[in-house]
Amino acid sequence: KMTDLIITKENQGVFTITLNRLNKKNAINNKMYKQLSQYFNYAKNKSTIHCVLIQGDKNCFCAGNDLQDFIECTQNDSLAALDFIKALNGFNKPIIAAVAGPAVGIGTTLLLHCDIVFAANNTKFKLPFTQLGLCQEAGSSLLLSRMAGQNRAFELLVLGNNFNAEQAKEYGIVNQVCQPDDLLSLANETALTIASLPNDAVITSRKLIRQATQQSLAQVIESEAQEFSRLVKTDACKEIMARFFNKK
Ligand code: COA
Repeated sequence: KMTDLIITKENQGVFTITLNRLNKKNAINNKMYKQLSQYFNYAKNKSTIHCVLIQGDKNCFCAGNDLQDFIECTQNDSLAALDFIKALNGFNKPIIAAVAGPAVGIGTTLLLHCDIVFAANNTKFKLPFTQLGLCQEAGSSLLLSRMAGQNRAFELLVLGNNFNAEQAKEYGIVNQVCQPDDLLSLANETALTIASLPNDAVITSRKLIRQATQQSLAQVIESEAQEFSRLVKTDACKEIMARFFNKK
């Protein structure tokens, strides 16, 4: 339905997942994490699906974790995000992402698990974890260091400044930068092309690319999650989150 927070569609081997909470800049709440996990598990097991396309719209990808959920966070809820990260990391088919506007926190770190990322030139990336009193997640400690180098990973994860699509491309996070109007069609065409290739060959090739880091990545995800769930319960973090909503 058009009112669902996440909309999915299957077409010619492409399973498109559209974040649809635009009035909150596609911030991901716990309910959405659970749905995302379910959709990735569904896509993994359905043989007619050959690849996944994840997108928002041409002006907004994702403003990160719902900060209200962080404030209210209970043990069970933080598992919803971790379950999604694990579903993403355990996914076995190509993932294409189409990114525009805000790509904050998990809105950037989930891209590190994708195989091809298109970014509109209006994209604003940001990893504000330490500014919020948190640490990074989703295996980004390992993945971003490997893509961009350790010092750049420190700069992006610890200073947490905005960076744009061209910079993201230079850092190896983004494959191609395009105009906002071209974003969704370009990503969809590429997804259709990937879906039309010999499926076993594509999946095997992807597996071989990832194999080397798979085991340590799973460990990194666990370590990050432990520190993250410790930090999110601290007074320092809770005060910063509360400020986001109070300054309006
Ligand atoms: N969690 C919850 N609500 C969020 C949100 C988030 N991560 N990001 C945006 N929203 C909400 C805002 O509270 C606002 O809601 P309201 O209209 O009910 O007041 C609405 O989405 C629009 O956001 P707004 O800040 O007015 O849009 P903007 O275009 O000025 O700025 C951002 C966009 C993404 C730069 C800004 O919203 C932002 O910094 N969000 C927080 C990002 C963040 O820290 N995420 C966590 C990373 S770990």
